[in-house]
Amino acid sequence: MSGRLQGKVAVVTGGASGLGRAVVERFADEGASIVVADVNEAGARELAARLGDAAVAIGADHTDTGQCEAAIALALETFGKLDILHANAGGPFTGPFQDVDDATLERVIDVNLMGSLKMVRAAIPALERQARATPSGASILVTSSLQGLKAKPNFSLYTVAKHGLIGLVRSLALELAPSNIRVNAVCPTVTETPMLAHFLPGMAAEKDEAMNRFRATIPLGRMPEPVDTANALLFLASDEARMLTGVALPVDGGQMAM
Ligand SMILES: NC(=O)c1ccc[n+]([C@@H]2O[C@H](COP(=O)([O-])OP(=O)(O)OC[C@H]3O[C@@H](n4cnc5c(N)ncnc54)[C@H](O)[C@@H]3O)[C@@H](O)[C@H]2O)c1
Repeated sequence: MSGRLQGKVAVVTGGASGLGRAVVERFADEGASIVVADVNEAGARELAARLGDAAVAIGADHTDTGQCEAAIALALETFGKLDILHANAGGPFTGPFQDVDDATLERVIDVNLMGSLKMVRAAIPALERQARATPSGASILVTSSLQGLKAKPNFSLYTVAKHGLIGLVRSLALELAPSNIRVNAVCPTVTETPMLAHFLPGMAAEKDEAMNRFRATIPLGRMPEPVDTANALLFLASDEARMLTGVALPVDGGQMAM
């Protein structure tokens, strides 16, 4: 059976957990070979081992240029090319902006913005080579957030970073279009992953009540699952999306329409 990503090679950062893990599993289902890159090396290795020949793992912190380059090199050594980069890794932040110290400011921007900038930059040469070799080109995907398109109080640094990623996507979509590399972002709303506890106030104490409060803000009336974002990314990565670039696609059950 031929999958929608049959024969394609992807690197997924933050692939050991949550949304990235769902992407790795979904892309593998559709015939892709994947490098699972994550600072959580044990988690990346466990997932890759379960997927057999379809995946390899690397412990890589995307805030370090050398480790980004190593993840790309592993894709080339193992699978011979790179068709898709998914810059997905990120970390939580909530709290009043006025209380942020310099170390927190640098860490949150590093993990949520600088890391993806470094990873995308490291991938471009290999993606350009692959885009020259095939009419379907190559693809860069970025996990932004609904906080990349709108804002709410006490999410300042995260919102700055996620807006920045959409700026990168729009800018690179134009810069790389002549090379036939498409660049798109997904913007998920709050989704149940290990990161969720940091995002929903009161979550730790009253999970059901917090989920119900949040569900009530979604026009479709249900919470997204990680696979919903993975399916959106699958479409954007596939040849079906060959005319889509520079898109920031909400995965939000209609919240952006309100
Ligand atoms: N869960 C949500 O509600 C939600 C909503 C919108 C956007 N997002 C974004 O989705 C992405 C994935 O988040 P998630 O919810 O799956 O969280 P998660 O905590 O389940 O997964 C994040 C993964 O990124 C890895 N990671 C963290 N820092 C890293 C680094 N410096 N280098 C490499 N890997 C690193 C972690 O080890 C982890 O495996 C993040 O960019 C997040 O901001 C999440």
